[in-house]
Amino acid sequence: MSYSRKAGATPGRTLDDAAQERGTPMTLSSEHLSTLNPSQRAAAEYGTAALPHQLPGPLLIIAGAGTGKTTTLAHRVAHLVARGADPRRILLLTFTRRAAETMTRRAHQIAAQVATGDVSGRGRIEWSGTFHAIGNRLLRMHAEAVGLDPGFTVLDRSDAEDLLNLVRHELGFSKQATRFPKKGTCLAIYSHALNAGAAVETTVEGAFPWCASWAEELKGLFRAYVDAKQRRHVLDYDDLLLYWFHLMQDGAVAESVRRRFDGSTTSWSMNTRTRTHSRRGSCGA
Ligand SMILES: Nc1ncnc2c1ncn2[C@@H]1O[C@H](COP(=O)(O)OP(=O)(O)OP(=O)(O)O)[C@@H](O)[C@H]1O
Ligand SMILES: [Mg+2]
Repeated sequence: MSYSRKAGATPGRTLDDAAQERGTPMTLSSEHLSTLNPSQRAAAEYGTAALPHQLPGPLLIIAGAGTGKTTTLAHRVAHLVARGADPRRILLLTFTRRAAETMTRRAHQIAAQVATGDVSGRGRIEWSGTFHAIGNRLLRMHAEAVGLDPGFTVLDRSDAEDLLNLVRHELGFSKQATRFPKKGTCLAIYSHALNAGAAVETTVEGAFPWCASWAEELKGLFRAYVDAKQRRHVLDYDDLLLYWFHLMQDGAVAESVRRRFDGSTTSWSMNTRTRTHSRRGSCGA
């Protein structure tokens, strides 16, 4: 989790200016953190003492499942707002929609409890959501920079499987004598290879060994699937992250996105029991 930035959002506009516009000082009481245990409280308060004039530096919290990560992050976000951070300039990212909603709701509730007089009505956290939702939003704002039509359509998993299936039929793979992998398996292989940055051969050998004999055909299928998506101006869920990554390689766009935020709070989990990282699992950071 990090919350870092050096100076004001807009050139010539300092943090002090921004704080003044929003009204400072904020409540200095930390009563709203009293339900947290000492470690949680230290995490929630880290680097916030000099707010709103100086933003906290980066902070990484590693904690196990059910230890109160979401609770802590919600309190931290609320505490940042209570101490003068602009909620409209906080980026809150999580992997699941439910986690995003929970964290934002809790942060708003706590911030509302704290809010008295000058801190009330300071606005809501506008940039809170899953990586995919935030990627979608940023991509629509900067679509041209990555050669996208800003009106692109997002395919959910089921739509993506159907498009892949259509391409699979067009290439004649569904009529093979030996059974070609089903549409769901094809999409899982495609997604796995893309997210791991691995070749199709390596992916099927490692994770889908029963499909190893189809590696060449799968490569052809995935090429045709990418063409089909581009012709239709559609992105699947993996594309939202992939195009976002490419968007951030454009220096001017990356700078404009960076200036939009004073800091980001990210909550995600990874499975530490297996060698391969997963997005959900027993241990979170
Ligand atoms: N300091 C605390 N005192 C009492 N209860 C707490 C405290 N911190 C967290 N809890 C409770 O523990 C439960 C788990 O908390 P939370 O959902 O924040 O954990 P988490 O680490 O995000 O869990 P997960 O790994 O499932 O995402 C919740 O019911 C929460 O209210
Ligand atoms: Mg949680």
